[in-house]
Amino acid sequence: MKLWVDGGLQDAATARVSVLDHGLTVGDGIFETVKATAGRTFALTRHLERLARSARGLGLPEPDLDEVRRACAAVLDANPMKLGRLRITYTGGLSPLGSERGDTGPTLIVALGEASRRPDSTAVITVPWTRNERGALTGLKTTSYAENVVALARAREQGASEALFANTVGQLCEGTGSNVFVVLDGRLLTPPVSSGCLAGITRALAVEWTGAEETDLPLDVLERADEVFLTSTLRDVQAVHRIDGRQLPGAPGPVTAKAMRVFDERAASDLNP
Ligand SMILES: Cc1ncc(COP(=O)(O)O)c(C=O)c1O
Repeated sequence: MKLWVDGGLQDAATARVSVLDHGLTVGDGIFETVKATAGRTFALTRHLERLARSARGLGLPEPDLDEVRRACAAVLDANPMKLGRLRITYTGGLSPLGSERGDTGPTLIVALGEASRRPDSTAVITVPWTRNERGALTGLKTTSYAENVVALARAREQGASEALFANTVGQLCEGTGSNVFVVLDGRLLTPPVSSGCLAGITRALAVEWTGAEETDLPLDVLERADEVFLTSTLRDVQAVHRIDGRQLPGAPGPVTAKAMRVFDERAASDLNP
C-alpha cells in the first residue's frame, strides 16, 4: 500500500509524520473522505471545495488543490481496488506543544483504504450528547473527531452502525459521519446546515435530486417519522430499519427506495456532479 505524504508516494508501512504534528497533538487538521470506484473518484470537485472551505475556517494555509489532485491520482494509481475510501488529511504541521500553530507549513497526507458496499438498511441510535451549532468548528470537517469516536462506539455496543445527535436546542442534527433525512406526512425533510450539521456532499446531491426540503426538526421526529434514511460518501443513501428501540418494518420504504434509485442513477451518469 502506497500513500502520499510530504510531496510524494511512500510505503504505508514506513511513512511517517512528526510526533509534533499539530494534527496529532491537538487535532488541528481537516480532512475529506472521497469514494473511489475502480480507481475513479466521485464528486471530487465538491470535496476539494469543501477541503478549501474547511482550511479557511481553521485558518490553515489555502491547500494547493492541484497538488491534492495529483496526490489523489497517484495514490489511486498505485493501489488498484474495487471500492476505496480515499482519505485526504491536511494539518497544521510541525508545531510547538500547545494550541499555537507553528510556521513550518501544513502536512498533506492522501491515503486509500479498501471499502465494502454498505447494506441497504441499518440500525441507528440517538445519543445524549449534543452537536454545537454555534462552535468555532461548526460546519468544518476537522480531524477533531473524538466526540464521533465515542458516539460511534456507543452505537456499536447497541448493535447499530450510526449515532444521531441533536444540537444544543434539541433539534435533529446529524450522525457521527452522516446526514439524516425523514419522511413525515409524505414530505421528505432534512435539517438545514444552520442546525450545526456538516454540509454533506451526499446530502446536497440528495436534496438536489429528490427535492427534499430543509427545515428545523425536533429530535423526537424520529419517534414519528414514517421513514428515515442516512446519507454519506460511503453510505450513499441508506435506509434506517431501527432507531433505538423503534422498528421501522419494511425499510427501505417507498420514498427512501426512490431516493436510493435516483441517487444511484444520477451518480452513475455523472462522476463529478
Ligand atoms: C459529521 C459528518 N456529517 C455528515 C457527513 C456526510 O458528508 P458526506 O456526504 O460529504 O460524506 C460526514 C462525512 O462523512 C461527517 O463527518
